[in-house]
Amino acid sequence: MPEATSRLDQPEPTSRSKQYSATELAKLAQDGVTLILRLQDPSGAYPASPSFSAYRGYCWFRDGAFIADGMSAAGAEDSASRFFDWCYRILIGRERQVLDIVARAQAGQQVGDNEMLPTRFTLSGEDGDDDWWDFQLDGYGTWLWAVVEHAQRHGLELTRWKRAIELSVDYLLTFWRRPCFDWWEENSDQVHVSTLGCIAAGLEAVTRGEFLDAARRGEAQAAVAAIRLEVVERGMSEGHLAKWLGSAELDASLLASIHPLGVFPASSDIGAATIEAIDQGLNVEGGVHRYLADTFFGGGQWPLLSCMLGLAFAAAGDRDRALSQLEWAAGTADVDGSMPEQVAEHLLDASMTAEWVQRWGPVAKPLLWSHAMYVRLAVELDVIERTAA
Ligand code: BGC
Repeated sequence: MPEATSRLDQPEPTSRSKQYSATELAKLAQDGVTLILRLQDPSGAYPASPSFSAYRGYCWFRDGAFIADGMSAAGAEDSASRFFDWCYRILIGRERQVLDIVARAQAGQQVGDNEMLPTRFTLSGEDGDDDWWDFQLDGYGTWLWAVVEHAQRHGLELTRWKRAIELSVDYLLTFWRRPCFDWWEENSDQVHVSTLGCIAAGLEAVTRGEFLDAARRGEAQAAVAAIRLEVVERGMSEGHLAKWLGSAELDASLLASIHPLGVFPASSDIGAATIEAIDQGLNVEGGVHRYLADTFFGGGQWPLLSCMLGLAFAAAGDRDRALSQLEWAAGTADVDGSMPEQVAEHLLDASMTAEWVQRWGPVAKPLLWSHAMYVRLAVELDVIERTAA
């Protein structure tokens, strides 16, 4: 950490100093909504990136849930509902698998990682033939959170997705303590705090109201309390959330647990300390790194994370800082308005860029998740119209 920290101490001059009018910021958000609508598959899936070699043809529960939340918040109700229908069909299609692994685990039997639900699916909802870093739990929590938020925001009945919600709850209740790959598809031997945040947010969301049966509801509430306790006891360092249980490192994915997931709100000591630590440790003039040891495409700055930091600032009441995060993210759009996964600025390890370009081609662009987080922050800041809650 100390070596990489010193890199952040000397920010390079940034080329993203353009000032944006409110109209320009709003247009980029509206264009983002249009782009996501155009690229959404008839199945309801949101492709992570339509052209990037390693992502083409796949939709992630993680990306998709945040994209659906952004679309829902921006008023694209039907688009978000169709994504949740896609999630529903995937889970219903794997009901037997979920029931089997849950029953075996509860009976004390071993369940292999290769038996767990995948991280991503083809647009038509198949597992896909390409190897990937399965398995990951966060997306199954995030979709639960997003579908409940969506239903509340638009006054919809959750019954449309009920059985898939129940299966996801049972899956998470059984497996939340299990190590898995993180948001970045790395470190499969750890229990990641941002993954726990996604799970807690999903389980908390489904316990609102009387939607679940009393037994599941009680178990979900108990699990949320247990997850919080685990994080507080083992998932913190110097007052802020840490990358995984027992780690002292930071990771910008932790921002989601503050806002919009709301597990450790910006007003709490943990939330405030985490915002400050990430701002100081991973944010360079608005561009946010994933973590200090990142070498993926050289370890650049991620607009989706800049927007997540903006959301956290907004939740903390700091509109100016939130708006400057939005402006930085706007500066990553190319002339066509397309936003990338990361920009090659303030690279943490430039020697690694060529290796990734050779392996997978140029950085993913457009990345729908980047657009969606921009839209979500634009809604939060009333840069575009907020859909009534
Ligand atoms: C990131 C994931 C993301 C995926 C698709 C990967 O590079 O690590 O977080 O889900 O791309 O966007």
